[in-house]
Amino acid sequence: MSTGTGPLSPRSSRVTAARRLLRGRERDRQRLFLADGPQSVREALAAAVAAPGAVREVFVDATGRDRHPDLVSAAFAAAVPVLDVTAEALASLTDTVTPQGIVAVCGCVDVSLDDALRARPTLVTVLVQARDPGNAGTVLRASDAAGAGAVLFTAGSVDPHNGKSVRASAGSLFHLPVVTGVSAGDAVERLRSAGLRILAADGTGELDLDDVTDHGDLARPTAWLFGNEAWGLPQDVRDLADATVRVPIHGAAESLNLAAAAAVCLYASARAQRPRPAVRAGS
Ligand SMILES: C[S@@+](CC[C@H](N)C(=O)[O-])C[C@H]1O[C@@H](n2cnc3c(N)ncnc32)[C@H](O)[C@@H]1O
Repeated sequence: MSTGTGPLSPRSSRVTAARRLLRGRERDRQRLFLADGPQSVREALAAAVAAPGAVREVFVDATGRDRHPDLVSAAFAAAVPVLDVTAEALASLTDTVTPQGIVAVCGCVDVSLDDALRARPTLVTVLVQARDPGNAGTVLRASDAAGAGAVLFTAGSVDPHNGKSVRASAGSLFHLPVVTGVSAGDAVERLRSAGLRILAADGTGELDLDDVTDHGDLARPTAWLFGNEAWGLPQDVRDLADATVRVPIHGAAESLNLAAAAAVCLYASARAQRPRPAVRAGS
């Protein structure tokens, strides 16, 4: 969109309004968030094809316009306004030290638990009070990669629309249903009613993941609960699960990072839920 007076400055009303979305309260109030960088913007625009209006506007500086003409064209094709801004204005819309020239204003993606369960997911991730945005985004990405059908963030967890989380998800935020603000109790009750077995991932879990895998128990529809980075899963939440499962620690590490633990558990389930033809020894 031509402004007639050159690229918008950090003080222009459009840029100022978008910048407010760096604050969680403002994201909640407006139900909008910022997706920054080409990968996030690409996935946001792809999602907007099925949900017109999901991307409200795209800000681009001269570098972004040069490097990502495909995204500018995709925005025009989707009838999303593209606003030229100065590099300083673009930088003011992101909390990263290396802005990548393009930022989109998007509608929040979270859906109700009912909506998330409608597609009958057989693998679900539940983050119980996860607080680190990088972990949240990385778990979203791992869940997407492992073929999970939904990711739930319990009340008190980080907002997955937070800038760091969006970047860490590398576009996966737009690929699968995300539920926020649900209590761990409600989530477990609803997931169990939907036919999923509830496994709590915990370093002191009663069952070893390798044993659970070898017994074929992971082929069943499963929801995995993962705990907070500092204090793990509270006892009352572990008590809600059908079993607690530990990823064996073969070295001297105290525990795994939350996102690493999630990737290991989700991939164990993904493998079990997708049986492969038997491989003969030596072949
Ligand atoms: C960094 S850990 C929390 C460590 C914390 N000191 C504790 O007491 O649990 C965050 C989450 O990652 C998962 N996790 C980490 N290591 C694990 C392991 N060895 N087995 C299963 N889950 C693990 C659990 O869900 C845990 O709540």
